[in-house]
Amino acid sequence: MSEQFKALVLNQKGEEFSREIKSIDKSFLKHGDVTIKVEYSGLNYKDALILKNGARLVKEFPHIPGIDFSGVVHESNHKNFKSGDEIILTGWRVGEIYFGGYSQFAKVNGDFLVKKPKNLDLRQSMIIGTAGLTALMCSFTTKATREELLLGEKVENVIVSGASGGVGSMAVMMLSKLGCNVTAVTGKESNIDYLKSIGAKNVINTKELNKDARPLDKGLWDGAVDTVGGKVLENILAQTKETGIVAACGNAADIKLNTTVMPFIIRGVKLWGINSVNASIKRRNFLWNEAGKLIDFGILEKSIKEINLDEVINIFPKMLKGETSGRYIINLNK
Ligand SMILES: NC(=O)c1ccc[n+]([C@@H]2O[C@H](COP(=O)([O-])OP(=O)(O)OC[C@H]3O[C@@H](n4cnc5c(N)ncnc54)[C@H](OP(=O)(O)O)[C@@H]3O)[C@@H](O)[C@H]2O)c1
Repeated sequence: MSEQFKALVLNQKGEEFSREIKSIDKSFLKHGDVTIKVEYSGLNYKDALILKNGARLVKEFPHIPGIDFSGVVHESNHKNFKSGDEIILTGWRVGEIYFGGYSQFAKVNGDFLVKKPKNLDLRQSMIIGTAGLTALMCSFTTKATREELLLGEKVENVIVSGASGGVGSMAVMMLSKLGCNVTAVTGKESNIDYLKSIGAKNVINTKELNKDARPLDKGLWDGAVDTVGGKVLENILAQTKETGIVAACGNAADIKLNTTVMPFIIRGVKLWGINSVNASIKRRNFLWNEAGKLIDFGILEKSIKEINLDEVINIFPKMLKGETSGRYIINLNK
């Protein structure tokens, strides 16, 4: 292991909040029993919130952010992992209360790690990352839960909000691969062609859903994936057809939800919360093994921006303003 390596370190002293690329050594890494040479990390909305000011998610400073990463085990004191194993990490509050992946070496609890499936490489694993895992959970909930678990009607017409974001774009592709007609909701007219290229049948502007919702509207959707919350989610609930499942995972627009009981008691609509952070390892292994089958990397690659640690500092404010699209991955060797 190199004596010194690079990491993005956040610090807070009084009112002053700093972000710096620092040269550190392994004595800096204080959590966990498996040391990993990180190859790729992701830039997620939650990372952007943490990079801004810790977002009250970070309890101690100095701190290394980065809520997801892929890499190779360097040293392990955990029974399930040995040097050379290729792993994926997402969630478990790594990058929040534990040091994360914005570092050339990371040390985490081996219980948090998933062995990388053979049909993905380390870069592809981070193209999927937290966003993809969350999109998978949402997509399976919307489609398979209704069709297979609840033995319901086939899910044909689905809507995905925040469609050009990390979770949204992946959900558009996955639901389209699962055979649904996907309507993508975006605030960016310039992304219409891109959204169609990843599988959207129709694209509507966020403005159309950013209005006060009626208790019940014309039923249009068999299922939905919502990444933005607020009025958009209120309208999606009102437009969801009998027994449809709305998988809600995000709050990119608003944490508030002002709705009525009508969609739930008249149409049996289900609002299904998604939290990928604490998903069990059993579920993660299943989802990661499905991931490669539902992603067309040839198409997705065009929307992937590969950046280095320095670039993260310039890009995260744009993500917080909703000015970014697609998935950003951080190459720790760049
Ligand atoms: N529950 C979980 O386990 C979990 C896991 C991962 C992420 N999340 C959450 O899911 C959400 C999306 O995450 P992400 O990583 O995909 O973020 P992202 O890449 O920044 O995408 C968010 C998208 O939402 C849309 N958007 C942004 N601001 C908006 C606004 N004010 N009104 C309406 N739409 C807006 C934009 O889509 P358009 O450009 O298409 O308009 C944007 O691209 C976040 O809230 C994140 O915290 C939750």
